[in-house]
Amino acid sequence: MEKPGNLILVIFGASGDLTARKLIPALFSLKIQKLLPERFAVIGCGRSVFSDPEFRTKMKESIIAFSEEKDPDEKSVDEFVESISYLMLNNEKLPDYHKLREILVERTKSMSIVANYIFYMATPPSMYSVIAENLHEAGLSVQHDGFRRLIIEKPFGYDLESGRELNRKLHEMVDESQIYRIDHYLGKETVQNLLVTRFSNGIFEPLWNRNYIHRVEITSAESIGVEDRGGYYDSSGALRDMVQNHMLQMVGLTAMEPPSSLESNSIRNEVLKVLQSLQPVREADVPKQVIRGQYTGSTIKGECVNGYRYEKGVARESRTETYVAIKFYINNWRWGGVPFYIRTGKRLPTRVTEVVIHFKKTPHHLFQRDSIARTSNQLVIRIQPDEGILLKFDMKEPGAGFNVKSVNMDFHYRDLADIRLPSAYERLLYDVMMGDSTLFSRDDEVETAWKFVEPIQKAWAQNNDIKIYGYPAGTWGPSVADELIEGCGLTWRYPCKNLAGDGDYCEL
Ligand code: NDP
Ligand code: BG6
Repeated sequence: MEKPGNLILVIFGASGDLTARKLIPALFSLKIQKLLPERFAVIGCGRSVFSDPEFRTKMKESIIAFSEEKDPDEKSVDEFVESISYLMLNNEKLPDYHKLREILVERTKSMSIVANYIFYMATPPSMYSVIAENLHEAGLSVQHDGFRRLIIEKPFGYDLESGRELNRKLHEMVDESQIYRIDHYLGKETVQNLLVTRFSNGIFEPLWNRNYIHRVEITSAESIGVEDRGGYYDSSGALRDMVQNHMLQMVGLTAMEPPSSLESNSIRNEVLKVLQSLQPVREADVPKQVIRGQYTGSTIKGECVNGYRYEKGVARESRTETYVAIKFYINNWRWGGVPFYIRTGKRLPTRVTEVVIHFKKTPHHLFQRDSIARTSNQLVIRIQPDEGILLKFDMKEPGAGFNVKSVNMDFHYRDLADIRLPSAYERLLYDVMMGDSTLFSRDDEVETAWKFVEPIQKAWAQNNDIKIYGYPAGTWGPSVADELIEGCGLTWRYPCKNLAGDGDYCEL
């Protein structure tokens, strides 16, 4: 992999959690891999008061705490943090951007580099358009003497209207090609591997359609609760936080047509076509096709766990969903009639993200017995944490007769001793430096994804009779979600059992 050209990275919101936990450790890893530009500097911006040495110490601590590099050696950390400085800046004050500009000009000169700047918005989303506007006013967004790239964190709006408005405002200041919207799931190796699994293996692609696939299931489960993000989460919920972005991007990559090349827009056009083909869930069908839940208190491995409504920053009467499961169809030639099921939730029994392709059964059950009547071949693409691919198929049990047993062919990335999986942020930051936008969400993808979730948002907002189910923390969510799956006796794939002892499944 080649080194990116020299540049300066400016981070707005540099005093925050994302910078400390993800961005700086990812940059440090790039440094260790020798994938940072030869001449490189970071300017952290925020209202908080830090001197340069104080900020460097904070960043050093965060590398030690969160870096994926095993035992980072102190000398390399010290060397790396020397490239970081801090500027007190209020996002809403234009004069502060003039000051930033002066510093950038001076730093560009002293580093003897071309004025290539990347601006990372790691602030609350309400600040994105203000920052873009001020950068523009201060003459920092125009690309005449080097590139100017803007990295934006999710959420990209709150609904279809605000998502469109944000895009409209950004486009007044910068061109779409300068915007990199981070969906960190696209930075995960195994999400990208979906493309390779599908389009590099002659054995899967011929089967990848309605003729051979019975249903597709995508799960993204987390065992943690909302932790200290209750304030943000309570105004978001699982539909906005996970479905509108990460889950629908995974649907796109699973269902897309082969792109004509690996060029960024070629791949994004195919994902967009899938999103455009999603059959909207009509508001009247929301209660039948969408199940929402919220975790309630329980005991997990002897430890009492708070219900969502008792988390910090969450309203006691909150009806925000911490779990959502949706059944939908993709109206196109490849997928006509194949149900897609997606679910995501917090405080489920384990952390797992996986895509499960359920193939159709053989047309005639030569070996039919009760025990195998319900099984069919499954391809499980494990996105995390145990990255790999599992194929389930039937085999004859040795011995008399034809006893059939389901067995696994199981590949784990961890078995490849020489393979290191880079963190999503490491990959995405590198790509922005290289100017490769393949793994970033484009304006039309974001808006089309909002279009799909909009009727669900509206139905929930307007109809209080639509149930929200309580599920005990540590369980797989409302059991009624099993009823979404079409077919007698079929359920979701459960990678492990419920953990919770007590707690009630109830209607909230
Ligand atoms: P934090 O609240 O920890 O940090 C944001 C920083 O923004 C603050 O430190 C604050 O610094 C600055 N800020 C500027 N203006 C305001 C304002 N008006 N109100 C509050 N803070 C302000 O957030 P995170 O770092 O967790 O998240 C940053 C962005 O990244 C958010 O959009 C979030 O949704 C997104 N994100 C975060 C993830 C994470 O793991 N943390 C994961 C995925 C997305 P100061 O007071 O010094 O100006
Ligand atoms: C973030 C969501 O985008 O993704 C969080 O805001 C969620 O609520 C996180 O916990 C999950 O990411 P990962 O990489 O841990 O699966």
